[in-house]
Amino acid sequence: MKTIICKDYDEMSKKAAEIITKQVKEKPDSVLGLATGSTPIGLYKCLIEEHKENGLDFSKVKTVNLDEYVGLGEKDDQSYIYFMRDNLFNHINIKKENTHVPESNKEDLKLDTEKYNKLLDDIGTRDIQVLGIGVNGHIAFNEPDDKLNLRTSIVDLTEETIEVNSRFFEKKEDVPTKAISMGLEDIFDAKCIILLANGKSKKEAIDKILNGKFVDTNFPASLLHLHPNVVLIVDEEAYNG
Ligand code: GLP
Repeated sequence: MKTIICKDYDEMSKKAAEIITKQVKEKPDSVLGLATGSTPIGLYKCLIEEHKENGLDFSKVKTVNLDEYVGLGEKDDQSYIYFMRDNLFNHINIKKENTHVPESNKEDLKLDTEKYNKLLDDIGTRDIQVLGIGVNGHIAFNEPDDKLNLRTSIVDLTEETIEVNSRFFEKKEDVPTKAISMGLEDIFDAKCIILLANGKSKKEAIDKILNGKFVDTNFPASLLHLHPNVVLIVDEEAYNG
């Protein structure tokens, strides 16, 4: 795992944006795997700036997102589809039909997972996958457990994740308890994975990745050691605490 230590959140975001900008310039029809959460917002701001000021062209780019809450419609401002439109898609020249966020239609969740797995198979290996990390080491919504899913599945969120993510909702009871999430095999199907982490709350998790010489399904991010091309971009707070 290659590690890049940045002085702060802005530098971390710019570094990640540089890698993605280079990728899209070199291969205009790149397939990008995207993430939600507060961490990649700065990266998306930089990409919007690249588009508006330097004409970075997303017209042939395709994107797939990692996960989505079950039960929130696309109009709910806490849904990940809303987040992606609001923080990126609506501000660049990407074609709506080229953007993909898993759907979670409560009536037939199994069908939703099958549809997303088919989509991932059709779209093929991503050029870059952006990843954040939960304080408990989750990646996408793969929570610590004795077994982890290989493919897109419906997952139960842990009490800890519900608590941590409740900061975005009016009250804790509003946080969905289930999500649809890419599995580990899906996340790994990328030529390069950029793992982003900033702030003190991520220090323990980053320390475990960098200094724990192990892989453990009860700390899902540790499995990233098994991917041949992961770039960890952290700020000093996440690195030093
Ligand atoms: C959510 C997402 C993850 C994300 C994590 C960290 O649970 N499913 O993909 O990495 O939160 O979020 P944040 O970046 O806000 O710390």
